[in-house]
Amino acid sequence: MDRSIRKWEHVQIALQTGQSGKNGLDDISFVPNSLPNISYVNTKLTTQLDVLELASPIIINGMTGGAVKTTTINQKLAILAKEKGLAMAVGSQMAALRDPALADSYTVVRRENPDGIIFANLGAEASVDQARRVVDMLEANALQIHLNVMQELLMTEGDRDFSGYLEQIAAIASNLSVPVIVKEVGFGMSRQTIRQLAEAGVSIVDVGGAGGTNFARIENKRSAKPLNMFDNWGLTTAQSLLEAGEVDGFRLTYIASGGIRHGLDAAKSLALGASAVGMAGAFLRLVQEESLEDCLRTIDEWHHQLRVAMTALGAATCAELRKVPLTIAGELAVWAKQRGIA
Ligand code: FNR
Repeated sequence: MDRSIRKWEHVQIALQTGQSGKNGLDDISFVPNSLPNISYVNTKLTTQLDVLELASPIIINGMTGGAVKTTTINQKLAILAKEKGLAMAVGSQMAALRDPALADSYTVVRRENPDGIIFANLGAEASVDQARRVVDMLEANALQIHLNVMQELLMTEGDRDFSGYLEQIAAIASNLSVPVIVKEVGFGMSRQTIRQLAEAGVSIVDVGGAGGTNFARIENKRSAKPLNMFDNWGLTTAQSLLEAGEVDGFRLTYIASGGIRHGLDAAKSLALGASAVGMAGAFLRLVQEESLEDCLRTIDEWHHQLRVAMTALGAATCAELRKVPLTIAGELAVWAKQRGIA
């Protein structure tokens, strides 16, 4: 199947499928603080992602490019990123490496936002040379490498050979001049995967958990022979963050993504150890369904919700949220116990 058609199908089916909302974060509760001793206006949304200083912990996660129709989506996302100081990733640039005529659907992002923080994107099958080229294409500040084994396996035309990925990632991480972010696309990551990535020299991990855009369901909808028994594959975003919390001894920073819906989900993710949150499906729906003004207003609301949580918890910075007490209930608590997480 033509890559451009596939890219557009992903956008359409992601919009139709929506998000399940079961990212696990509803099982996390903050312990309230009636004497937070801070002022709302003094809360700061800046956050540090390895060497990158972000004005907001909300990142527009990698989605698209590679089809002419996706240029408009990337352009709108880039305007939002610029106006609200959000870091932004593009979708896999492999299409532009294969067909340079498609580069414009990605480079539009840099044109709209010359000084913004932008992430390039490729799959783990990429070579060091390809990684350098996609970073150069966007003058990117970091490279996202996506891991999506289950998605590929459910795709009729998908990859079947996943050998050598860790070595490829290590080679890219040690040869690029910008940080490498390894991300899942909604199936989550275990502590073992995260530890392997850290040992390979990766400094930023986006846990990309289940609970939002569901690529098992999306590929099953596209397939003539769907394998629907895999629709609920993976670890949720909350489970993945708890797994990440078990990995120590490395200088890793985390992005939480997968079904992040609002500022309270962001606050909970930061409290569970993330330095930023990635949102993909929510931004796709925004730019496809709302006016630019309404999109900007929604981002303001998400920031407001996060500040409300920070103020109520006495956390003046994103980093301070990591110290606030929380409890784990329901299914997540049962699962955490089985995984030996206290
Ligand atoms: C994606 N995602 C994605 N990720 C990636 O690293 N490279 C890519 O090319 C794409 N393509 C893509 C297309 C579309 C239409 C969507 C909605 C998403 C995955 C995305 O970055 C994210 O990991 C998942 O969507 C889960 O986050 P949300 O959507 O639940 O916030």
